[in-house]
Amino acid sequence: MPLVEFDMSEHEYHKPALVNEVMSLLNIKPGDNCIDATIGDGGHAKAILDASAPNGQLLGIDADPQSILRAKKRLTSYFERTQLVNDNFSNLERISNNKFNNPVTSILIDLGLASWHFKSANRGFSFSDESDLDMRLNPNQDQSASYIVNNYSQSDLSNLIYKYGEEPKARRIANSIVENRPVETAAQLADAIQKVSPRRGKRIHPATRTFQAIRMVVNRELEVLESVLFQAERVLEKGGRLAVIAYHSLEDRIVKSFMKRESHDCLCGPEIASCICDHKAKLELLTKKVVKPSRDEILSNPNSRSARLRTCITLGTLPET
Ligand SMILES: C[S@@+](CC[C@H](N)C(=O)[O-])C[C@H]1O[C@@H](n2cnc3c(N)ncnc32)[C@H](O)[C@@H]1O
Repeated sequence: MPLVEFDMSEHEYHKPALVNEVMSLLNIKPGDNCIDATIGDGGHAKAILDASAPNGQLLGIDADPQSILRAKKRLTSYFERTQLVNDNFSNLERISNNKFNNPVTSILIDLGLASWHFKSANRGFSFSDESDLDMRLNPNQDQSASYIVNNYSQSDLSNLIYKYGEEPKARRIANSIVENRPVETAAQLADAIQKVSPRRGKRIHPATRTFQAIRMVVNRELEVLESVLFQAERVLEKGGRLAVIAYHSLEDRIVKSFMKRESHDCLCGPEIASCICDHKAKLELLTKKVVKPSRDEILSNPNSRSARLRTCITLGTLPET
């Protein structure tokens, strides 16, 4: 994947979701040190850096080297307060300990992909992409979408499309993929899907759920999410805040149950008379109910429509507000 130098105007960047809500819940103050674990095009990061001015530091992480280049360009005027690291957030704790010698007051994790990923003609995320079927966020990962699509058995493909894409036609789609092998490009994959699930005026492209499912497996999206949540809790100082935006129901379920579980002392079931688990709450919920974008936001930024924000605060000695 060639890295491209960017010369971009503001409107070409990814438009971040729920910025006002994130900023109000993270409550960032001058001098705060924050981690944006999915820096993307740096839209949220810009708001964070403005709120933490004049001396708050930001560590920005992204698995995609292209995102790091774009964020670097976007955040040029903040370079003295910003460090960018091209890595997976599954290594959050190590990256933070090695590169960011600061108490961490806030962490933001804005999951999924940036809008430009879906428009790029050479990554395999777009239905009309005629280049190799890749879908890896980082070219150094071993398994690309092409391997999965061309080597998994029909039943493994069907299961993953059903589980991660919540696609009711999973079995028929998996059959069609197997019958149309070799499937070398994203456009060929989309064609194989449309043979059994035609578009016929549907608002959402019939390949959307299957592409999402394969991408989630390629990038181990659910596994790394579970891991980063535990790490974020350990990295944050006491009273530090965590905000997570999910765009997929399975991801949101992981975030919801993590925050719920870690905000309770005992996890023993009602059948246990006296606690034997010794579990201690580490978090307090800041959002009892999930936060969704307003109608106005969805109208001005349709990509935000499935965004779901949850936030919590780590327990301990809370800082004065
Ligand atoms: C929705 S975009 C973030 C947009 C960003 N908040 C902004 O304001 O521009 C998600 C970003 O997370 C990155 N990403 C997804 N999974 C990741 C992971 N496991 N580790 C690090 N970065 C990841 C993607 O490459 C993408 O750039």
